[in-house]
Amino acid sequence: MKRICSIIGARPQFVKAAALSAEIAERGKALGLEEISIHTGQHYDKEMSDIFFEELSIPPPKHRLGIGSGSHGAQTGKMLEAIEKVLMEETPDIVLIYGDTNSTLAGALAAVKLHIPVAHVEAGMRSFNRNMPEEINRVVSDHLASWNLCSTKTAVENLEKEGLAETAALTGDIMFDCALRFAEVAERRRSENAAETAEKGPFVLMTCHRAENTDAPRRISNILDAAAEIAEFRRVVFPAHPRTVGALEKLNISVPEKVELIQPIGYLDTLFLEKRADVILTDSGGMQKEAFFFTTPCVTMRDETEWVETVEMGVNILAGASKEKIATATLDFAEHPPAFSDASPYGDGNAAAKILETLNEG
Ligand code: UD1
Repeated sequence: MKRICSIIGARPQFVKAAALSAEIAERGKALGLEEISIHTGQHYDKEMSDIFFEELSIPPPKHRLGIGSGSHGAQTGKMLEAIEKVLMEETPDIVLIYGDTNSTLAGALAAVKLHIPVAHVEAGMRSFNRNMPEEINRVVSDHLASWNLCSTKTAVENLEKEGLAETAALTGDIMFDCALRFAEVAERRRSENAAETAEKGPFVLMTCHRAENTDAPRRISNILDAAAEIAEFRRVVFPAHPRTVGALEKLNISVPEKVELIQPIGYLDTLFLEKRADVILTDSGGMQKEAFFFTTPCVTMRDETEWVETVEMGVNILAGASKEKIATATLDFAEHPPAFSDASPYGDGNAAAKILETLNEG
């Protein structure tokens, strides 16, 4: 029996783990694989962590490290030390990491130093912007991993250019599995608040949490000005990440009155609202893909994206942090939604199965 130790810690990782852990629970025995998981505690508020375990029935992590927030060095360093301790006790055969957060990087480093091979889910993504902490986390994690499990052909090509072809496997995107698995559940189990929000009339669903936006006063104020402008014509519903709330408090900027500011929402409510929104306005990576899965047009408040396929297909516009571009693109998409082709650059929704088969082949 091969033992896989999954490292999770931040919101998007809980979602991805929901699909893969379920697959391991269903098929692991037959394949000779079993899972234990470590929650680093990077995200710890109920609505940033526990809600995902409850609503997606994710098995409780065996180890909770409770690391919490901090500067990049402090947070990653504390995780590294604590993960190493658990890995020395558990001696797993494979350490599995997801995405590009500080938990991803700490998991990869702790494992390779103990000579435990690393499997990286959502590997090979590149923004080519090294100012993003996530880009550093991705590049380093990919170079440490023995299996780079890629969502897209672009990701495989990125790895080939970095001499990592031998480690790359195209599995499709695990978030597509999640969206397919949970979209129907979301219809039944969305909260009353989400249902009311959707019923009130057409809306734009906005999220903003990237450090490159929240920590740059000019960018965040342009983004809020754009939201105010959009809100003159279309409702803007804005579940705010705690990083964003904290940054706005520090800058003494408030969210424009017409924008409907709400608490962070769980995955099921997110899917429910994404499906019904006229436009998704975001700087999240996951939401750009989910917009595509639900044929909702997307405006991305970044200067570049790893999910280039959505832009090439004309259903996602990169608007940076320009007030004019954000407002114009969002209102245009709301009035004239683009046509979605039936191309499927993110696979067939069976990434979890392909990941397990790849790991099983060794
Ligand atoms: C992290 C990831 C980012 C991912 C995002 C998903 C890194 C470098 N970034 O960013 O790639 O898209 O998660 O949400 O790993 N906070 C709370 N409660 C919480 C968690 C955070 O209040 O439960 C606040 C704290 O003030 C903290 C800040 O949010 O300092 C930032 O949290 P952190 O985990 O460092 O980064 P994220 O912005 O969440």
